[in-house]
Amino acid sequence: MCGIVGYIGQKKACPILIEGLRQLEYRGYDSAGISVINENGIFTAKSAGRVQELENKIGEKEVFGEVGIAHTRWATHGKPSDKNSHPHGDCKNNISVVHNGIIENYRELKDFLIKKKHKFSSETDSEVVAHLLEEFSKKMDFKLAVFEALKLIKGTYGLAIINSREPEKIIVARNGSPLVMGIGDGEYIIASDTSAIVRHTDKVIYFDDGEVAEITRDGFNVTNIRNKNIKKSITTLDWTVEKSQKGGFDHFMLKEIFEQPETIFNSIRGRYISTEGNAKLGGMEGVIDRIRKVEKIVIVGCGTARLAGMVGEYMLEEYAGIPTEVDYAHEFRYRKSVIDEKTALIAISQSGETADTLAAVREAKEKGALTLGIVNVVGSTIARETDAGVYTHSGPEIAVASTKAFTSQLAVMTLITVLFGRQRQMSLVTGQRIIRELDQIPAKIKKILSDNKEILKVAKKYHQYENFAYLGRKYNHPIAFEGAIKLKELTYIHAEGFASGEMKHGPIAMIDGNFPCVFVAPRDSVYEKNFSGIQEIKARGGKVIAIATVGDKEMAKVADDVIYIPKTLEMLTPILAAIPLQLFAYHMAVLNKKDVDKPRNLAKSVTVE
Ligand code: M6R
Repeated sequence: MCGIVGYIGQKKACPILIEGLRQLEYRGYDSAGISVINENGIFTAKSAGRVQELENKIGEKEVFGEVGIAHTRWATHGKPSDKNSHPHGDCKNNISVVHNGIIENYRELKDFLIKKKHKFSSETDSEVVAHLLEEFSKKMDFKLAVFEALKLIKGTYGLAIINSREPEKIIVARNGSPLVMGIGDGEYIIASDTSAIVRHTDKVIYFDDGEVAEITRDGFNVTNIRNKNIKKSITTLDWTVEKSQKGGFDHFMLKEIFEQPETIFNSIRGRYISTEGNAKLGGMEGVIDRIRKVEKIVIVGCGTARLAGMVGEYMLEEYAGIPTEVDYAHEFRYRKSVIDEKTALIAISQSGETADTLAAVREAKEKGALTLGIVNVVGSTIARETDAGVYTHSGPEIAVASTKAFTSQLAVMTLITVLFGRQRQMSLVTGQRIIRELDQIPAKIKKILSDNKEILKVAKKYHQYENFAYLGRKYNHPIAFEGAIKLKELTYIHAEGFASGEMKHGPIAMIDGNFPCVFVAPRDSVYEKNFSGIQEIKARGGKVIAIATVGDKEMAKVADDVIYIPKTLEMLTPILAAIPLQLFAYHMAVLNKKDVDKPRNLAKSVTVE
C-alpha cells in the first residue's frame, strides 16, 4: 500500500529511485513521483499512472543530485492524478515528503495550516506533513520541527523527508507503516520493503513504530520523537535479486505458481521428525509450554491468508481437538472476542504488514492471548510483534495475487496442527502419516503443473463467461472461496465461492447454462455429497468444471470438464486443489488481456485499515 524509496550516497539518485519504484510498484500503482536535491533546490517530477509514465515524463532530462525520495501510490485520499501524486512540497518548495499510511486528523491540521496562510496543491492527507514542517521549522531546528509535527499527527505513517536547506540529509519516521533501510558502502537506501534494497546490499535495519532516523552519507542516528537515542541491530537478508525477478516466465504470478514444489519443500524442510511423527518448529520452541496449555485457537487474516486459516480450522479441530475459530482480522478487533491467556491467536500474513491483521495481534496481546505468526516476510512487523511464529519461507511474492504464499501457509498450518496435536491426543501413527504425506506434496504439485496445457484448454473454453460459482465442502470449502478470489481479482469477472451444501438453500436459483460452476470434489469423506451436488447442478442445465482425484472415471461422466489432482490425505487436498484454480484464473486473465501481476484497484500489501 504505497511504496517509498529514498537514496543518499555517491551515485546519481534518480535511476536508483526509479528502479526502486519498479520493485515496489506492486504495493500501489496509480501514480508515482520523485524528488531529488541538487544545486538548484528540489527537482520534482510526478505523474498519474505507472512508474513508466513517470519515466516518460522525465524523459531524456538529466536529473542531477545524489539525495532523493520517491513514491508509488495506492490512493486513499484524493483520486489518482498528477497533483495528488507524491512527493508533496511546502509553499516554497524547500521541503519534500513521501508518505505511506493515513493521517487521520489531516482535516484539523489542514485548517490550522490554512489559517497560517499555507497554500495546498493536492487533496491528499499527506501534504499536511510538508506544511507542518515548514511552519515549525520557522522557529526551530529542522529535526526538532519533525518531532513537533509527528507529535501532532494521528494515524499511520512511513515518511521520508528531504529539505533543500539541509541538502545532505534524509529524515525518515515510522508509525504503523513499514520502513527498512539498506546499508551500503557510503550509501543508504530507504524503502517500504526489502525488494527495493536487495540489489544494493544485504544489510538492513528495520525501523519500529515511534522511531525517527536522520541519515547522512556518513552515518545515521535513530531516536524516538523525544530525541532519545535508540540502538538498532543490523539484519542480513537471504533474499537475492534473482529471487525477485521473473526468471523467463511471462508474469510473476506464473513464476510463483511454478515455484510451489520448491516453496512447499522450503516451508517444511528440517521442520519435522519423521520417527517421532512430530513437528520441530524452532520459532515455537520458546513458547512450547504455553502451547501445551492452550484451550482455544483464534485464527485471523485477510483475503487469501484468512482462507488458509479456514483450512487450518478444519485441521486443528480434527487432529488437535482444540476448539478453533477463524475471523477476518478487520472484524476481530471490533468484536468483543472472548479470549484470554489460554487462547492462542494465529495471525496469517504473507507480507506481515497487513494493518488489519497487525491490529488483531495487538488486540489479542492486550487481552493476554499467546500470539503466533505464520508470516512470509522475514523481519516484518507481524513477525516481530507476535510472541512466536513460523516463517513460510516462500521467498518474495511479487504478483498481487497470492499463490505460493498461500500453499506454504497451508503446509506450515499442517506442521502446527501436528505440533499441537502431538501434545494432545494425536497418535504417533497419525503424526507419522501426516508427515509422510506432506513430504510427498512437492512431487504431487509438479504433476499438476505438468497438466498446465490442459488447464489452459479449459480456460479457453470458459473465458468469455461472465459469472462463476466455486463450490466445495469441508476442507475444500475454503478452497472454493480461494478459487473465486483468484478469478475475481485477476479477471474482474463475477465469481462467488459457496460451501456446496448451501447451494440448495438459495444460490442454485442462479444456475443456468451461462453460470458455470467450478466444483472442488476430490475423493474424500464428503465425495458422495459433492457428487450429488454436481448432479443437482447438471439437472438444472448448469455447466460443471470439476477438480477431482486422478482416476475418478465417474466424475468424467457427469462433469463437463475435469482437472485431476493426485490422491493425498484429505487434510492436504486443499494444497493440491488450489494449484489448478490458480492456473485457471491466470489463463483466464491472460485470455481476457488483463494485467495479471497488477490487477486494477489492488495493492500487494494493505497497510491501511
Ligand atoms: O500480506 P497478507 O497475506 O496479509 O495479505 C492479505 C490479503 O490482502 C491477500 O491475501 C489478498 O487477498 C491477495 N491479493 C489475494 O490473492
